[in-house]
Amino acid sequence: MAIASIKGFRDVLPAEAARRRAIVDAARGVLEAYGYGEVELPLLEKVELFSRSVGATSDIVEKEMYAFEDRDGATIALRPEGTASLVRAYLDAGLARAQPVARLWYGGPMFRRERPQKGRYRQFSQIGAEFLGREDAAADAETLCLVADICAAVGVRGMRIQVNSLGDAACRPAYREKLTAYGRSVDLLLCDDCRVRLERNPLRLLDCKNEGCRAAMEAAPLMIDHLCDGCRDHHAEVLSLVLSAGVLLEANPRMVRGLDYYCRTAFEITAEGQGAQDAIGGGGRYDGLVAALGGPDLPGIGFAFGVERMQLASGSEADADAVPLAMIAPIGDVAAPAALALARRLRQTGCRIDLESPRRRLKAQMKQADKVGARFVVILGDAELESGRATVRDLKAQKDHPSLFALDDEAESIIAALGCVE
Ligand code: HAM
Repeated sequence: MAIASIKGFRDVLPAEAARRRAIVDAARGVLEAYGYGEVELPLLEKVELFSRSVGATSDIVEKEMYAFEDRDGATIALRPEGTASLVRAYLDAGLARAQPVARLWYGGPMFRRERPQKGRYRQFSQIGAEFLGREDAAADAETLCLVADICAAVGVRGMRIQVNSLGDAACRPAYREKLTAYGRSVDLLLCDDCRVRLERNPLRLLDCKNEGCRAAMEAAPLMIDHLCDGCRDHHAEVLSLVLSAGVLLEANPRMVRGLDYYCRTAFEITAEGQGAQDAIGGGGRYDGLVAALGGPDLPGIGFAFGVERMQLASGSEADADAVPLAMIAPIGDVAAPAALALARRLRQTGCRIDLESPRRRLKAQMKQADKVGARFVVILGDAELESGRATVRDLKAQKDHPSLFALDDEAESIIAALGCVE
């Protein structure tokens, strides 16, 4: 019996891989223009890194993490996200001291054991960016501009950026109490999950998708109305700076995010083409995180996009593979060595050259050339081997060019000779 892949884990075949590479390349171009340097992070980290940052009571850590005991007894996990790893790397490398203001980005697979559905997988890819060491509103505004510019470069359709402020250590505790008190007053109307959230993570009562919970929370107090002066001023400045740069934001006072490290600015990016999971990216400010991970009290803000969701948002048409310039058609095993050597030399110029099996008949080889859209077929039969000159069939003009080049010509001049065929 064939072995299937694990639920929620998928293969990316060539056409899709090309599309994904184009998305990452487009994002990379924008990140570089904003001065971000790329960091490669490990896929495995200590579990504690995520429980201390993302939050021990968050769904990600509590229910979705692939955590296991290593052979030496250490508890490790496949990373569910990149921010905690990046901050750990920033501290490990001594950047907090040497270069506290840093713009760093990363990409690659993340792992969460969620229920798979359209746009939601157990292994997915992110493009994430973190701006460390700056607490001023201008850093938030620059980050939101970067988000909008990446979406534009990738060709995301129907992008919307929703923002909220989640307050800080000065104003959130009092708000949290108010929200909990409200939640208790409607707790009979809440779903089982929300009753647990009420005690452990009351902010998450606000973004439950359950209709009954939504109705019950309709009149709940909102963080945005309970910000301290510092948070209120910061938020107003972010909004006005972003507006002056020409990026549109939408206020969403019920957006809370599923990770615990956020304070002040939080945002989510939505787009067309998604199923029930419509966020293609999300992020926010996390001023306490560096200290929580054992570093100095330095602020940070960042975001991550999901590559699979960006694919859906920018059209999932498969890009065509690169079309071969030529296909080499060796006729019989005697032609195999010359064909292999010629293909290798031509491929070293960087052109795509297909090489057919010497055991297939010429007719079948021609059919294949048509199928892959090759412009030329280079035929190597007995006559060609004897004369040392290839016959080139131009598939566009349906015409043969006998002796177009000698088999031992320089690869560049062969490519040039093909390029000269009208
Ligand atoms: P997040 O909102 O958990 O944030 O994930 C960011 C994006 O990753 C989501 O908007 C979504 O596009 C994608 N994503 C998440 N889970 C899945 C899944 N199961 N399948 C497919 N795509 C998924 C973070 O991870 C934060 N680290 C972002 C951040 C960076 N905040 C500050 N800096």
